[in-house]
Amino acid sequence: MSKLLWSADGSHIPTIDPHTKAKHLIIEKYVEDLICTLYGKGRRGVDTFTFIDGFSGGGIYKDDESENKEWLGSPVRLIKAVQEGFKKAKREYPINVKFIFIDDKQDHIDCLKNYVMPKSGLDELSQPKDCEFNYEFICGEFEKNINYCVFTAEQRKGHSFFLLDPQGWTDVSMQSIRKITDMKKSEILYTFMIDYIIRFIAGREDSLKRGFEDVLEADGYYQEARNSKLTSSSVQLYLRQESMRLFREKGKAKYVFSFAAVPKGDTRVLYYLLHLSKNLTALEVMKDSFWEENTLGYEYFFNVYGFGFRTVDYYERNQMRLKFEKSKDQECIELLDRDLGRILESHPDGITFREASEKTMELNPARKSHYEQYIRQLREDQLIEIVREGKVINSKSPDLRRKDIIRKSRARQLILPF
Ligand SMILES: C[S@@+](CC[C@H](N)C(=O)[O-])C[C@H]1O[C@@H](n2cnc3c(N)ncnc32)[C@H](O)[C@@H]1O
Repeated sequence: MSKLLWSADGSHIPTIDPHTKAKHLIIEKYVEDLICTLYGKGRRGVDTFTFIDGFSGGGIYKDDESENKEWLGSPVRLIKAVQEGFKKAKREYPINVKFIFIDDKQDHIDCLKNYVMPKSGLDELSQPKDCEFNYEFICGEFEKNINYCVFTAEQRKGHSFFLLDPQGWTDVSMQSIRKITDMKKSEILYTFMIDYIIRFIAGREDSLKRGFEDVLEADGYYQEARNSKLTSSSVQLYLRQESMRLFREKGKAKYVFSFAAVPKGDTRVLYYLLHLSKNLTALEVMKDSFWEENTLGYEYFFNVYGFGFRTVDYYERNQMRLKFEKSKDQECIELLDRDLGRILESHPDGITFREASEKTMELNPARKSHYEQYIRQLREDQLIEIVREGKVINSKSPDLRRKDIIRKSRARQLILPF
């Protein structure tokens, strides 16, 4: 990956690549839906958020495919997505959001602060009604500012979101990941450069050994990959599983969900976009965003890559999307049939919708809406019943609640196909 460089006045900016575009669209959709879900929840939802963009870059790219030949970077996309989510929630109490942008190059921070933000109409004086937005720009290394970020987010309470988008794999330590996952309401979206890590494992350059053992705390992980053919799908599956294990065990993340960036003509993953969270709703909302940008078929690819984006030529990409659209809901329902079917079968006395989701959400590509659709269908077929507060629900199409118990129908024997 070439170095991304911005000049302070915006006269020199890098060109965007297709993977970064997909990543930006995921971030945007996710943040918008997250704000809408958490802020719009109940009588008064979450009204305080802290967004940390730990590797912000200069905020703008060249893009030959778009009309005005420009593409906005992650910082502006985060702010705009919060504004959109706020509007979409249609609530009438104030929201308070702080954004911290960090980059180790002064030119990048200057470009973002003095060129991109004013040009995009974003400054603290021009804020939508009821939105209190506060921006902080820090020139420095993320690792040196992690304590300040965690302290600030904790002081402010509310929900915090860390976007960690480095170009290497030694710029974010596992210790910092833990500092974030230790917080009560936090989540991380992390660009994890798996391809570089594997190259290190294969070559074992001594200069990077400290990075692997002390920074990433990955000693004992990825062992099998050392002498294997990295293009084989079983090795790619192994790498994904090891990455999940690493962030669950060492990063103390409850849920780890991945989106793979697969370069054109390749089967190897360049990087994973990892979502680390402890909240089922956050996982579900992220799944929806990954789903939108996924260009890989589910039946075969999900196990190997999770969701993912493979770069292809523009026309090929559009054709692929068209072809893919038709079957992707169907594929999800079939995979759900396997996972949820098994869970329901092994809990004859029933299981709450929450527990069934928690046990299976990371295993398949199905979204929350697929879960609801699938459960409703089983109920319509009288294979299961839904119990709420001790009573079987009789209404025709009930909304599903987390605490509802789903169990085999007492009237008919459940034989689930899987
Ligand atoms: C991949 S770019 C970020 C792109 C940006 N997130 C976006 O999506 O538009 C990585 C940025 O991190 C900066 N950087 C590199 N090492 C860093 C470090 N240790 N701490 C903070 N920033 C760093 C680089 O100068 C570069 O601007």
